[in-house]
Amino acid sequence: MIYLDNAATSHPKPESVYKRIDFVLRNASANPGRSGHRMAIEANRVIFEGRESIARLFNIRHPERIIFACNATAALNLALKGLLQPGDHAITSDMEHNSVVRPLKFLSQQGVNVHRAQASREGSLDPDEISSAITCETRLIAVTHASNVIGTITPIAEIIKAAHNKEVPVLIDAAQTAGAVPIDVEALDVDMLACPGHKGLFGPQGTGFLYVSPKINLNPTVFGGTGSRSDLDRMPDFLPDRYEAGTLNTPGIAGLGAGAEFIFSEGVGAVRMHEKHILSRLIDGLTRIPGVRVYGTGDIERRAAVVSFTIEGMDPAAIGDRLDTDFGIGVRVGIHCAPDAHKVIGSYPKGTVRMSPGYFTTPEDIDRAIEATGVIAADRENHRYIPVSSPQPAIPRG
Ligand code: ALA
Repeated sequence: MIYLDNAATSHPKPESVYKRIDFVLRNASANPGRSGHRMAIEANRVIFEGRESIARLFNIRHPERIIFACNATAALNLALKGLLQPGDHAITSDMEHNSVVRPLKFLSQQGVNVHRAQASREGSLDPDEISSAITCETRLIAVTHASNVIGTITPIAEIIKAAHNKEVPVLIDAAQTAGAVPIDVEALDVDMLACPGHKGLFGPQGTGFLYVSPKINLNPTVFGGTGSRSDLDRMPDFLPDRYEAGTLNTPGIAGLGAGAEFIFSEGVGAVRMHEKHILSRLIDGLTRIPGVRVYGTGDIERRAAVVSFTIEGMDPAAIGDRLDTDFGIGVRVGIHCAPDAHKVIGSYPKGTVRMSPGYFTTPEDIDRAIEATGVIAADRENHRYIPVSSPQPAIPRG
């Protein structure tokens, strides 16, 4: 299969990730931080090393402030629900994934006031607009680092600077950029960074983390055993234990750590360069196909490796189905858990076809994807392809 769905989960993983998970699952999967026997100590070391590898990749001075979570959604939930209280004001944007939209909706029902900054049709956010929405009640700005629909990169350095001028912290959703676009936590003065482990960081599914800077104090949102201060009936005060209740995903974190090490040794700059190269090739090729409309900015510097397109008169679901069935190409279609972003770009409710290449995608893969899309578009033009005439589903998928 030609896998162009890395924005959902990266595939394949570096060989070192498979090997590390296999090794840890066989040899070091006792309970970390609980029992004192040698295998439990080894499991603890795996967790420690995972944190260290992530800290090195993102230039995080305090590895203990990396909180492991089961995905970016859980990390975002901790950040939002751990910080915001009724009466607080929060700023977000209309390019967000449901992992930010839905917890904020829940919080707004509890009395948090949420302002949504509007993006341009290309998905760009204006730091000045965000800054001017800050009030004396603003407790947080939560924005995506790059749209999961069209890849537009948010100018986080400018937003953080403007927010810090008014003493407001910023939460960055790095779901589409972690491991693929350089992020220097200390240089950017990042307050909170939520990352999935299973996308650009090459870990397995079920992994992710939230980095919380020393300036931020969150309430825990999950309570339970930590293996530390077990005499207390409340969560310990120290990190990471304060936010890591329950047994951690040791083999998963081992894989995530190996993924972070792989990226560090290749260099995030090299990953980014490769992705920009194949991204240009993909956008260029798709744009030349009659009837194809590519969404988002043409400026590769402002784009993560995500390309959304439609073919005039065709249902994106039918295109995705044909790409898979007839050409062995895996993509994601629909509204990508980001309905508002599709409203911004004008593709709601059917959505788009999204191709998301990764570090292991080759130029030949891209050429075959372009060729296949060309065939599908031409079949449509020549009335050789009859799309299934199904009514609009009651529940939009994707
Ligand atoms: N958030 C992931 C995506 O955009 C799953 O596909």
